[in-house]
Amino acid sequence: KVQNLIFDASFMQFQPNIPSQFIWPEHEKPCLTRPPEFQVPTIDLKAFLSGDMEAVLDACLQVNEACKKHGFFLVANHGVNAKLIARAHELMDDFFGLKLPQKQRAQRKIGEYCGYASSFTERFPSKLPWKETLSFRYSASDPSKKTVEEYFLSVMGEDFRQFGVVYQDYCEAMSNLSLWIMEILGMSLGVGSKYFRDFFEGNDSVMRLNYYPPCQRPDLALGTGPHCDPTSLTILHQDQVEGLQVFVDEKWYSVNPKQDTFVVNIGDTFMALTNGLYKSCMHRAVVNRKLVRKSLAFFLCPRMDKVVTSPKDLVNKEYPKLYPDFTWASLLEFTQRHYRADTKTLDAFS
Ligand code: SIN
Ligand code: FE2
Repeated sequence: KVQNLIFDASFMQFQPNIPSQFIWPEHEKPCLTRPPEFQVPTIDLKAFLSGDMEAVLDACLQVNEACKKHGFFLVANHGVNAKLIARAHELMDDFFGLKLPQKQRAQRKIGEYCGYASSFTERFPSKLPWKETLSFRYSASDPSKKTVEEYFLSVMGEDFRQFGVVYQDYCEAMSNLSLWIMEILGMSLGVGSKYFRDFFEGNDSVMRLNYYPPCQRPDLALGTGPHCDPTSLTILHQDQVEGLQVFVDEKWYSVNPKQDTFVVNIGDTFMALTNGLYKSCMHRAVVNRKLVRKSLAFFLCPRMDKVVTSPKDLVNKEYPKLYPDFTWASLLEFTQRHYRADTKTLDAFS
C-alpha cells in the first residue's frame, strides 16, 4: 500500500524544527545572506506594440542580449488587467487556506503534473520543497473549450465555479501575452515576428499556483529546488515577497519583485527551438521566516503534437543542429518517466 502521508504546511510553520525530509543537502542549502540583485532588462510591451522603430529595435536588442546569456527578462506595460491579477492572487489565498481534506479533492497523483500537491513521503527521501501547489492544463487549441473552468467544476465542484472563471481568464491573458513575447523573440532572432507566434498558436500550456508558507528554518529548506523549466516560456507573477533566484556565472542572484511586471524566462523547449542560441537557466525559490510568498507561473508549451525543430535560419555551419526533432508530448512523457525513475520527484516542472 502506498503511504500517502501529507505534511500540512500550515501546521508545520509553527514547529520549532522542520522534518528531516525538508532539509536540503549542504551544497544546495540556501545562503541566508541575500544574494545580489540580478540586473534584468525590462521590456516595455506597449512601446514595442506602438510600432515605433526605435522602441521595437530596443526591445529586440535587450531580449537578444538577455536570452543569449541567461533567458530572463521582465515585461512591463503588458496590458493584463490589474484587477484580474489581484483576483488571481486573492483566490490563491482562498484555495490554500482551505482545510487539507478539501484541497485534497484536487489531489495530484504520483506521476501526474496537474492537481494539488504538498509533500508526499514517497516522493523522495529528502529534499522536499516547502510549498503547496495547484496546477492545471490550459488549452488554446479550441477557444470555445474552457478547459480551466471545466477542471475546477469537475474536481472541486460547483462552489468553485468562480475559481475556474478567473483562472480561465488569467490563462487566456497569459497565452495572449506569450504570443506577443514570441513576436519579439522571433524578431530578435531575425526569423520574423510571425514564426514563433504561429508555432505557439493553439498551445497546450500549464498553469501552476505556488504557495510558500513561512518557514522557521529558511537556511535549511527551499521553496522550489534548483531546476530549469522543461517548457517553452514561463510567465511568472510574483507577489511583493522576495524569493526567486537565478544561477548565472556560477553565482546565485535575486530576481526581486517589481510592481506591475511579469518575470519571463526561456525554458528548455524554446532553447531547443532556437538551436541553443537562447538559454534556459537554472533558478530556485527560497522561503522566509515571516511571510507567505505566492507566485503564479504560466508555462507556455507547444500543441502536444507539434514537432519542435529549429528554423532553418538558425542552423548553419557555425551553429550545427544541436537537438533532435521531438514533440512536446514525447518530451513530457520522457521527463515524467525519467524523473520518476531517477529521483522520485513528482514531476518534471520543479
Ligand atoms: C517562483 O516561485 O518564484 C518560481 C517557481 C518556479 O520556478 O517553479
Ligand atoms: Fe521554474
